[in-house]
Amino acid sequence: MDRRRFVAGSGSLALTLAAVGRGGRAWAQGVDAGPEVPLLFGVDYYPDQTPERLWVEDAAMMAAAGVTNVRIAEFAWSLMEPVEGTFEFAWLQRSIEVLHGKGIGVILGTPSAAPPPWLSTKYPEILLVNDQGVTLVPGTRRFTCPTNPTYRRLSGTIATAMARKFASTPGVIGWQIDNELTLGSFGRCYCRFCRAGFQAWLKERYKTLDALNTAWGTVFWSNVYTDFSQVPVPLPSGAPPNPAHALDYDRYQSAANVSFLEEQLTVLRRECPKHFVTTNNVGLVDTIVMRDLYRKLDFASEDNYPGFVALYFGGGDSGTMAPASMLAPMISFGHDFMRGAKDGKPFLVMEEQSGKAGQATFTPQPEPGQLRLWSYQAVAHGAMGINYFRWDTAVTGQEEYWHGMLRHDRQKSAGFDEIAQTMKELKSLGAEALHAEYAAEIALCFDQPSEWSLTIQPGQPKLKYTGEVLSWYGAAASGGAGLDVVDGTGDLSRYKVLLAPVLSIVSKAQAERIRSFVRGGGTFIAGVRLGIKNEANGMVQEPLPGLLRDVMGVELREYQPVYSQTLGVKFTGVLAGADAECHVWADVLEPKGATVLAEYTATPYAGAAAITENRFGKGRAIYMGSHLEGAALARVLGALLAESDVKGAVAVPAGVEMTTRKAGGRQWMYLLNHNAAAATIALTGSGKDALTGAGYAGSVKLEPYGVRVLLPV
Ligand code: GAL
Ligand code: ZN
Repeated sequence: MDRRRFVAGSGSLALTLAAVGRGGRAWAQGVDAGPEVPLLFGVDYYPDQTPERLWVEDAAMMAAAGVTNVRIAEFAWSLMEPVEGTFEFAWLQRSIEVLHGKGIGVILGTPSAAPPPWLSTKYPEILLVNDQGVTLVPGTRRFTCPTNPTYRRLSGTIATAMARKFASTPGVIGWQIDNELTLGSFGRCYCRFCRAGFQAWLKERYKTLDALNTAWGTVFWSNVYTDFSQVPVPLPSGAPPNPAHALDYDRYQSAANVSFLEEQLTVLRRECPKHFVTTNNVGLVDTIVMRDLYRKLDFASEDNYPGFVALYFGGGDSGTMAPASMLAPMISFGHDFMRGAKDGKPFLVMEEQSGKAGQATFTPQPEPGQLRLWSYQAVAHGAMGINYFRWDTAVTGQEEYWHGMLRHDRQKSAGFDEIAQTMKELKSLGAEALHAEYAAEIALCFDQPSEWSLTIQPGQPKLKYTGEVLSWYGAAASGGAGLDVVDGTGDLSRYKVLLAPVLSIVSKAQAERIRSFVRGGGTFIAGVRLGIKNEANGMVQEPLPGLLRDVMGVELREYQPVYSQTLGVKFTGVLAGADAECHVWADVLEPKGATVLAEYTATPYAGAAAITENRFGKGRAIYMGSHLEGAALARVLGALLAESDVKGAVAVPAGVEMTTRKAGGRQWMYLLNHNAAAATIALTGSGKDALTGAGYAGSVKLEPYGVRVLLPV
């Protein structure tokens, strides 16, 4: 997927400013801790792009700035293997020695994101074929097929050579495999190798052709397959692909990338058992199931570029940027998503914006305080360390406008001292704080198959999965109770509330988890299109909402895309308040035991239920059949959360976030002011400032973009 699309694809967002999270949860219990992870406050560094005469100066400046580590070499394949099978690691060895000499640890990147020209020339079959059937041209990065055996073999060969060479090299501490898998101009490959790989994957999944033909309903339009080799990849045809076929292809591409990564992981585990291994990515990439990607890695690593998001969220290349305040919840969601990819385990920010950001066009220098604020925001949401992208600024190439900590003339950038100060402060919090748990009372379900399914067939063009998730996040996270992103297949019992906007595919496993969550006393709040599809992406054949009918206590009388109609909604009971309008989508509900919290006021559904609440076991299940936006959504979710005993510790002003991390009976409360104006937060308790040691009692004033880390008593 084009990296621009992960923002643009989020659709019409109605974000309410978030003040996110507090609480405590023991992710670490029973989890193998893996190789030891030191403090990681570093930079992304490119000795391969820097004359060797500057290396010592670089390392000395880094050490003076407090850098603990670098990440290097992830785009250096052409220097490490200039000729097939000939490895040149001497330069890298020298670079590591220089860095290590200044006490700087090294995370090595395996270079598979950018194969060298000799490789793509000799083996053109490694090139990615995009969704229009066009074979990509090399000369950039991310132009490769995840299935192609030659690309896999050669990626494995260079990774093995690196691993063997540096397994015991002093200073080397860990690995990043590849770089932002699938996050190029095209996120999926449709080549002949992927076709064969897909067919093999289908054989494994369905075992028999009968099972595949039945699951996909291939009898429709005469597509009954009599051999697995007949199954195409969903390239342009005379009509859109069968939705079951398209969904399975998305699954296959995700699996292909995960197995591509795991081939290199196997090598690194074997050769470098003492090193940690991770890979970097951003939240909201819809080409890989992030939980699958990180399953066998030691921790998740996130790339965080607020300016980049602001630029594209503000309208792409139209010259506007989203305001900082609007950006805050999106950035927080990214952190929460990546923390969720590893079930709450603290993550590393592998790349954090350090200056003006962009490629052909770029953002302004962040305002004083913003770089510090964004770093604290990451830590407030569960980061254990941060690497700033990048140390210097490239003087050639596609990213010569992507500004690092040093300018093109190698003077310190405007943000340099702020970053150095921030690293110093964050380190002073100590390992316990940085590895503390972020706990949450709310869980938000992000279900990748539902996202794929809705992208394949939105039903109404404005109904976008990511947009819905972000709208609900913005509305729910503002309560300050802490929110985890989950996929609904794990244990939910620690949460008070589970939110599930557009959970259109409900698996049996998810239905069981949700049923026992509600039975045990939880509150389940579902949005439109709940459980309309089976796992193959075919229609559910029982009354909707299918597997969750008993839990919800309703049946759908009708469902309807809403275009230009005005469909009023009137609230009652606990939701009593201003009327709202239902846009985009309306599920018309028939209570079967549930009580009505809102009804439609317009024909033909006047008087029919729009929102219902069902008591089930010790808990309750709310069906939000009416698609609400903005203030109405925030009000309704806010009321439902309050009813479920979910509440923030303090009421924070708009644009201020509060989160808490906990460990060993201690807690760290983070206050973040995303506003360009000062803000005062009224606190009930007292305690100490973790950075200055000063006491506080009652209210705390934050300067513009200011932060506080408090130790409440
Ligand atoms: C990241 C990527 C880096 C660099 C950076 C700035 O997403 O991993 O290699 O491209 O963006 O564009
Ligand atoms: Zn391919």
